Amino acid sequence: GLPRKVKIIDVGPRDGLQNEKETIPVEVKVELVDRLTDAGFVNIEAASFVSPKWVPQMATSAEVMARIRRKPGVIYSVLVPNMKGFEAALEAKADEVVIFGAASEAFSQRNINCSIAESIERFRDVAAAAKQHNIRLRGSISCTMGCPYQGEVPPENTADVVRRLRDLGCDEIDIADTIGVATPNKVKAVFEAAGREFPIARLAGHFHDTYGQALANIYAALEMNVEIFHSSTAGLGGCPYAKGATGNVSTEDVLYMMKGLGIETGIDLDKVVDAGQFISAHLGRKAVSRAGNAIAAK
Ligand code: HMG
Ligand code: MG
Repeated sequence: GLPRKVKIIDVGPRDGLQNEKETIPVEVKVELVDRLTDAGFVNIEAASFVSPKWVPQMATSAEVMARIRRKPGVIYSVLVPNMKGFEAALEAKADEVVIFGAASEAFSQRNINCSIAESIERFRDVAAAAKQHNIRLRGSISCTMGCPYQGEVPPENTADVVRRLRDLGCDEIDIADTIGVATPNKVKAVFEAAGREFPIARLAGHFHDTYGQALANIYAALEMNVEIFHSSTAGLGGCPYAKGATGNVSTEDVLYMMKGLGIETGIDLDKVVDAGQFISAHLGRKAVSRAGNAIAAK
């Protein structure tokens, strides 16, 4: 059967907002995170400490982290590509740092300006520092289901990066479909390969919904006993270095499906819908969430 309980990480404040052209005021970012905290998430991806030249929208991450209202027990995660990012994360009192690599060489170069092997060397210092400071360590792997530059990505390539991130001591590893190209059988093949290297209960599914396959892919991952999923309120987002990639699967849609399946999340869907309407109103567009908009219209 399917898992009875899953952990949903809302990545909207980071993945969702990083691609926005207009600078979003700090207070709006803070309100989004606070609303997600109130909705009951136990893990929120709040910010990233990357080069502001590469991702200008995330330049205010230190202020955001300083001003969010922290609920005890909730993990506020941040992305860090290198030691400079780690130092900032430490200063910001992040509960978890996320090192992010790729299963495709071409994407690694475009996103973090180095090869996969070089990225692992860079992450080694970050991982050691995280352990030293007792900060949770998560690893993320982009383009596990396909790459905008390279096309097909064999599941073995993902398994290989999973093994290297495991050896660095990651507590959790994210399997990302950066450009939303996967269909369910591909998802199963990739998680099967990844699951040979790392416990499936600590692998996460990070699906973008570019081709409208994300919910089907999540269901396939549930059938593989995956218990952690990433999503964005209002379906915000996209990676600036993945041409044409649209947002993450919407949190509202995922919660609606989980509720229907009787899978516990601990999250208040109505509050997430409100958070999605709040951020969409700020951005001046309709939420990219079928369930969210249907519930909001009632
Ligand atoms: P680089 O140019 O090779 O790095 O970039 P560098 O070390 O030569 O530094 C260049 C400049 O950036 C220097 O400044 C550094 O100080 C500064 P300058 O001397 O020119 O004034 N710098 C930094 N500033 C702030 N914080 C830092 C930092 N590091 C360097 N941490 C680098 C390499 C990795 C830094 C760059 O490529 C980068 O920041 N990339 C981030 C790209 C990114 O954020 N992408 C989106 C997130 S990943 C994603 O969305 C995928 C995911 O959702 C999963 C999926 O869906 O696939 C996770
Ligand atoms: Mg992403």
